[in-house]
Order: sequence, then structure tokens, then C-alpha cells
Amino acid sequence: MRYVPAGQLQPGMVLGQGLHDASGRMLLAPNTSLTNENITYIKFLGTAGVYIDDEITRDIQVTDVVRPEVKSEAVSMIQQFFCRSAENVELDAEERLVRLVVENVVNDVLSNEAVMYNMVDIKTYNDYTYFHSMNTGVMAGILGVKMELPEDDLNDLVTAAFLHDVGKVLVLPDLVNATRKLTPAEEEEMKKHAWAGYEYLRKEYSFGDQVNETVYQHHEWYNGGGYPNHLKGRELLRNARILKAADVYDTMTSQRPGRKSYQPAEVIEYIMSRTGMEFDPKVVETMNAGFCIYPVGSEVVLSDGRHAIVVENHPGFVQRPTVRLLEDGKEINLRGDRNAYNITIVKLMI
Ligand SMILES: [Fe+2]
Repeated sequence: MRYVPAGQLQPGMVLGQGLHDASGRMLLAPNTSLTNENITYIKFLGTAGVYIDDEITRDIQVTDVVRPEVKSEAVSMIQQFFCRSAENVELDAEERLVRLVVENVVNDVLSNEAVMYNMVDIKTYNDYTYFHSMNTGVMAGILGVKMELPEDDLNDLVTAAFLHDVGKVLVLPDLVNATRKLTPAEEEEMKKHAWAGYEYLRKEYSFGDQVNETVYQHHEWYNGGGYPNHLKGRELLRNARILKAADVYDTMTSQRPGRKSYQPAEVIEYIMSRTGMEFDPKVVETMNAGFCIYPVGSEVVLSDGRHAIVVENHPGFVQRPTVRLLEDGKEINLRGDRNAYNITIVKLMI
């Protein structure tokens, strides 16, 4: 299986993984042989790319830390939570559902500790906020496990990450999933979402102080340069410092109209360059060691111009995975092959 950006899809390519919307509904089934209409539909949904199955990559398994069905369950829970006022759902039942989904995600993360985070995520931009919240939760959970957080803190962290932007529904409901860039005035107004989310969770639910305050602090900076209260360093909850990095990472790598998206390697560079300023050094160190910037199944361009698919990542050597050349199916271990030392990866095709 390999990841193909929407712009490079061709009729006849076969889907390796199904495509779902935020409510878990299957839009296109696995094994669908793509038609021109399917490709137009995928682009219309704002999906950045999909996994396809072909001869050269059939044996490549794309495994993730959290099972696809658990992720799907998380996205649909988040969507329900954000739309509660419209649905009139009973609060207790909703809180139980959040706890259950968080537990499933944390269990998956704990049992796949050795697996590196596979960062190509299939999301549609019409439901951007829900997919983003789910991704941020998974990523925060992985960072939390790598930082050896006790399980209670881990549950609180993932809960806060899933719900961190819920205040947006209260501040500017029509702009929660806006597909255009916000005006400076709207951006300013939207900043109230951290406080609004905190107040909402505190008054309506009983997730506890750590969850509520982490939501309140998720836009604070390590040096006090963030908002709303300019807290810094240890004044910030550890969970908020982790959530901050996960949130920025997913926001910057996501493709959305009107906004530039960045390559994972560029975002890691950006985050590293702002260590001690915007981000907690310990969190950055963990992120740097544990996230693969070239996910298995993704296409890369090598410094000699050849295209290849990432087959395997080597922990601690994220820049030098094993790749399979598209031209002849030969594999190069960029970490171990002596005659490949001068070859680097120059681009990830996402
Ligand atoms: Fe936010």
C-alpha cells in the first residue's frame, strides 16, 4: 500500500484503505478501482490524498499506533461533542462516551509503544476541526507515553486534546470548520476560545481541573508569550505543554485551503527552532526522537532525482529510512547501505 496525493491519482488505481467522513460513514470502500468521477469526488471532499494498492507496494503494511476504527470512533465522538447544542444529547451519556473513546485510544498507544507515529493522515477539510482534534489527541497520547506519564495524566491529556478547541463553537460557531482564512478581527475574536472552552467544560462536565485547565492553557507559550494569561515554564501544566506542541504540529502539516501546509520535516525544524520560546524543550526532544518524518508507504524524492516508497523507519534515524525505488523495486537502506551514504531524501510527496 502507498500514499498518493489527490493531484496524482489516476483512473484504475485501486484504493488500499476506505475513505470515511467525520461521522464514520464510508464514502469509498477499500479495493475500489478509481474512476474519473471518484477522483473528482475525492478532490471535492478536500482529501489531500489516499492509500492505494499496487504491484510494487502490495506487501507494504501501513500500521498505525491507533487502529483506524478507534480513530474513526474518536472523530465521530468529537463531532458529536462539538455539535451537542444542536443534538440535545444527555450530558452524562456524552461524558461516558468521551471517557470510553479516550480509554480505547490510550490502550492502543500503550500497547504499540514501539510503533512510530505514522503522520500521513486521511482527513477531509470540510470536517477539519474534528479530524484535527482527533489527530492532536493521538499525537499528544504518544508524546505522553514516551514521556512516561502516569495513566491518569495520560487519560486527562488525551481528553483535553480531543476537546481543546470546543470553545470555538461558543465563540464563532459558523467559523469552526471555515474553509477560508479568517480576517484579523475574526482571529482576535477566536482567541477567546481557550477561555470559553474552559468555562464550558468546567460548568457542564466533570472531567476534572487538569483537563479543564489544559484546555485553558493550550495556546500559552513556554516563555510566557502566548495567551490568554501569559503563563510560562512550570506555571504551565505539563499536559498543556505537550498539547501545545501536538496542536501546532498537526495544524502546520494539515492541508487546508488558503493556508500553506508544511512537510513534517519542516515542522519539526520549526518547532526545534522555537524550543524554549514557544515549546517546552523536553517535549521537543521527545517529539524529535519519536516521530517519523517519512511515514511508511509515502513517496519520497531522493537527492539523485529517483522516486521511492518508504518501507521501514529506523528509530533514532528518522531521516534515513529504508526505501524501495519505484523504477525497479530495489531497496536502499539509507541508514545501513554503505554506497547510499551520499543519498538523501529531498522531498516527501504529500
Ligand atoms: Fe486552539
